[in-house]
Amino acid sequence: MKQTITVTWLCADGASVTAEVPLGHSLMEAAVAHNVPGVIGDCGGALACATCHVVVESAPIPLPMPSATEGEMLEFTEAPAEPSSRLSCQIKAVPELNGLILRVPGP
Ligand code: FES
Repeated sequence: MKQTITVTWLCADGASVTAEVPLGHSLMEAAVAHNVPGVIGDCGGALACATCHVVVESAPIPLPMPSATEGEMLEFTEAPAEPSSRLSCQIKAVPELNGLILRVPGP
């Protein structure tokens, strides 16, 4: 079985980054590893910074709902949160998310 999924980030400047993300990695870690502009991950995935904010543009399956803490932290994103905003440190690469498309909100 394939051990990675393909994820695309649409960047605020109109560019995009597509990467193979190993199963089990968070999409914040993957974005940082691939230098996706605007995804910083200051707190290392501890739900304490909101600098890993992304908007889900297209997902093959509905993502699990954000936890209450993630929902609270989404009030502290630099760009205003949108209905499908998520903190990408809380999304893990699982096979069902192959083809996921995320957008990095601009300033
Ligand atoms: S990396 Fe800090 S909240 Fe996601």
